[in-house]
Amino acid sequence: MATELIKGTAQDEFAKEVCTGLTKSPQKELPSKYLYDAVGSALFEAISVLPQYGVTRAEERILGRYATEIVSKLPAPVIVAELGSGAGKKTRVILEGLSRRQPISYYPIEISSAALAMCRRELSDINSISIVGFEREYLDGLLEVAARWEADQHLMVLFLGSTIGNFDGSAGVEFLSRLRAILREGDSLLLGTDLRKPVATLVAAYDDPLGVTAAFNRNLLVRINRELDADFDIEQFEHLVIFDDTNQNIEMHLRARQDQTVTVAKAGLGFRILRGETIWTETSHKYSQSELNSIARQTGFRWQGQWIDHEWAFADNLWIAC
Ligand SMILES: C[S@@+](CC[C@H](N)C(=O)[O-])C[C@H]1O[C@@H](n2cnc3c(N)ncnc32)[C@H](O)[C@@H]1O
Repeated sequence: MATELIKGTAQDEFAKEVCTGLTKSPQKELPSKYLYDAVGSALFEAISVLPQYGVTRAEERILGRYATEIVSKLPAPVIVAELGSGAGKKTRVILEGLSRRQPISYYPIEISSAALAMCRRELSDINSISIVGFEREYLDGLLEVAARWEADQHLMVLFLGSTIGNFDGSAGVEFLSRLRAILREGDSLLLGTDLRKPVATLVAAYDDPLGVTAAFNRNLLVRINRELDADFDIEQFEHLVIFDDTNQNIEMHLRARQDQTVTVAKAGLGFRILRGETIWTETSHKYSQSELNSIARQTGFRWQGQWIDHEWAFADNLWIAC
């Protein structure tokens, strides 16, 4: 086993995006990718075992049952890049299946250095694996992987956990099109997608009674206070979950409990937020089957296989670049 880490730098970009998001009108927003500092990544791991959050367990069941079948559909030799790997626990079965056929190169691409460290610890004991972690945004990392890949190798991209649902509407299609443009014909994408289900089930999944998801959400303000020298009064923001029926999106917001003035020194920003006003922090889209078929067609992929968990409606989709 060999592991290597390519580190990133992004403080200025963080300040810029916080400034842009918090001055948006009428809806203030913050990019969800910033939820994942060390605390956020640890809280996400806790969320993934909450009884109300079925997403991770559903995908674990699918990969546990069907990893061999999924691997059998992939050409050899194949290298694996994973977008937003998190701790990488679910990926183990796929990598173990592949490593039984050949030595395997695995490239987790993560914005969170803490998640990347967990992932490398979690998977480095797999036989004949070489891990090169990229602390990068998804497609920047994928371009760097592409620069390393050899002519006879196929690339398998993993994008699990329905993280694609964090892209709002057409942004998801645009993202997958850009991803496809990096791939070569015959490369594959294993895409985890949370499917539509009763609204009460969905809202409970993002608003657990222990308050772990609320802490995950509010930690974004703690992070901005710490890293960008801001003065958010954390107690004055509450976690709010909304289901947008038209777009089939769960939205997470932070709602101000009272009128406040906030300063974010390193972003050169001072702003007012009024009681009841919200900062939109995350979208999680829920997919239908016909929508998935249409997205694959629009973005230059053909369908190769799909595995569904019926206990918690969730699908892993294997698409081939065409
Ligand atoms: C919802 S979690 C999913 C983690 C894991 N794939 C799973 O299925 O449990 C999303 C992961 O993507 C990472 N992430 C979010 N935005 C990112 C971006 N723009 N570029 C790279 N990684 C990102 C986060 O740090 C986080 O670990």
